[in-house]
Amino acid sequence: MSGVHKISMIGAGNVGATAGQKIAERDITDELVFVDVVDGLPQGRALDMMESAPVEGFNTKISGSSDFSAIAGSEIIVVTAGLARKPGMTRSDLLDKNAAIISSVSESIRKHAPDSIVVVVTNPMDIMTYLLFRKTGFPGSRVIGMAGVLDTSRFRTFVSMATNAYPSQVSAFVLGGHGPSMVPVISSSSVGGVPLTRLLDMEKIEEIVKRTRMGGDEIVNFLKTGSAFYAPASSIYEMVQSIALDEKRILPCSAHIDGEYGISDIYTGVPVVLGRKGVEKIIELSITEEETESLRKSAENVRIDVQLLTEHKFL
Ligand code: LAC
Repeated sequence: MSGVHKISMIGAGNVGATAGQKIAERDITDELVFVDVVDGLPQGRALDMMESAPVEGFNTKISGSSDFSAIAGSEIIVVTAGLARKPGMTRSDLLDKNAAIISSVSESIRKHAPDSIVVVVTNPMDIMTYLLFRKTGFPGSRVIGMAGVLDTSRFRTFVSMATNAYPSQVSAFVLGGHGPSMVPVISSSSVGGVPLTRLLDMEKIEEIVKRTRMGGDEIVNFLKTGSAFYAPASSIYEMVQSIALDEKRILPCSAHIDGEYGISDIYTGVPVVLGRKGVEKIIELSITEEETESLRKSAENVRIDVQLLTEHKFL
């Protein structure tokens, strides 16, 4: 498959713009559209990027708009719109503010791009993905959350640092929610096919797991006024490419699970096959009892947020 006709990025901040740049440069879509409520931002980002085309050698047509109807006809939509947590803001405040944004974004998507596949990145990601799934009424296969690829990439980076292995030789899986309850699956981690447990002692592995869980915070603590965007953008790109080119990569994504792993009607990180139809299959790994328990706990945390959104009348 040679790609799709149109991809839209809702949210033209650092994450959306950097992911968009990768999408544009790799020519996997004829058209790339940035939409943002901050007038001027999507237009400026789009024109600036477009002006790199002659040098970079790509042919993607890039445009920007603050009118949501610009997403019409998109096959793939990436949602990064939303606020980042500011000092003094509680998790519940963030939940409410971003739930309002995602509710209105869902409405636009339903109206203008009813056949699209949506990749949700806005935090708190698992619950925002669930909200968009409910608000659009799309099948779960067409609403997917991004974080597993990012969390896994962070884990793989730290393993590579500890073993000196070439980064992409490290295979791993991080399941569960995007947050402190994420579940790195040690039994599925290896370097060049050699199990991780043969290369590193448990103490070192535990240290890497801990660092991975706090991966987002580690970057925020450095940047102070913003959060990570290079690794998130690369992770979004891998998902979008697998969908646009129908590659059917197996990637850890936040997916609508209903029965798998003994968990019903919720979004959490599991391995899925990503292709032109979105989530084409959810894979049930044979994980340890402890890992299964952590995965369930992770899903329960999302359920608590569903309860909050229901109380606050978002659902
Ligand atoms: C991260 C935040 C932004 O993991 O979710 O970087």
